[in-house]
Amino acid sequence: MKRHLISAADLSRDDAVLILDTAEEMARVADRPIKKLPTLRGRTVVNLFFEDSTRTRISFEAAAKRLSADVINFSAKGSSVSKGESLKDTALTLEAMGADAVVIRHHASGAPYRLANSGWIDGAVVNAGDGTHEHPTQALLDAFTMRRRLVGPDAGLGKDLSGRRITIVGDVLHSRVARSNVHLLTTLGAEVTLVAPPTLVPVGVESWPCEVSYDLDQVLPKSDAVMMLRVQRERMNAAFFPTEREYARRYGLDADRMAKMPEHAVVMHPGPMNRGMEITAEVADSVRCTAVEQVANGVSTRMAVLYLLLGGSEPAVATNHARTEENK
Ligand code: NCD
Repeated sequence: MKRHLISAADLSRDDAVLILDTAEEMARVADRPIKKLPTLRGRTVVNLFFEDSTRTRISFEAAAKRLSADVINFSAKGSSVSKGESLKDTALTLEAMGADAVVIRHHASGAPYRLANSGWIDGAVVNAGDGTHEHPTQALLDAFTMRRRLVGPDAGLGKDLSGRRITIVGDVLHSRVARSNVHLLTTLGAEVTLVAPPTLVPVGVESWPCEVSYDLDQVLPKSDAVMMLRVQRERMNAAFFPTEREYARRYGLDADRMAKMPEHAVVMHPGPMNRGMEITAEVADSVRCTAVEQVANGVSTRMAVLYLLLGGSEPAVATNHARTEENK
């Protein structure tokens, strides 16, 4: 595995399966009465968030804490960034504090790459979402969720997503989640179809390793998982569709549409959801929707990523023998 995690495209199939398998080990820790491992004791993880986040930020924080790392949370609001401090000066400050890993979310596509390749810091850089570019740990937690739901038994340990058909629906143009998922899912052997209004399909999509369709109803019966994307109003500087009602009518997932999916198929959403727009409340709250499960899986997946990048000095999870010793 590389030293940083900037793009899902950096991961080979074996890297990705190793992360998913390690995440399964981490998930087992969450079922123990004491959810903490000593693995990253004495290491420092900095969460550097220049853009709003709920799930991703608390998920990385919980992951680092469960591995016993020291965690520093830095959000641009209320820091010297609002006084105009540059990424470079912020990075030098983190380096002076001895950060072993920097988890960065930034509104500019490419900021994590710049940080990783600048020589400003020595630690590992993890991209937690950069502009409209990539969000690799979201794709990993999505793949983890799909493997558990669609591959099993034993949560599909050691296996990839070969032959599974995944449909990603909505605002693909502004979605770093969609980009990372297309890369990772393809690496894991899945077949990906994007469904979006023509105005929300990125230029150059022909070179992506996936199909594109404009007809959701036609694709649903052939999908093992349907991932709904948030319509990202904050990134829109023009009118991409006539009205919200029109969007929901053609590209939203409601109960009637969900009924067209095969019985085993799941509905996914990375959050935050626009209920009533890309997904109805009825679908969001149904047992087929994995949105809440995805959040829980995010902690285990990020634990695995931090553990593997920081090369924890002890085995991630104690062996049976060691565990017995521990309990004496
Ligand atoms: C996504 C993001 O921030 O890119 N959310 C997330 O990380 N859970 C998707 C979105 O904002 O719509």
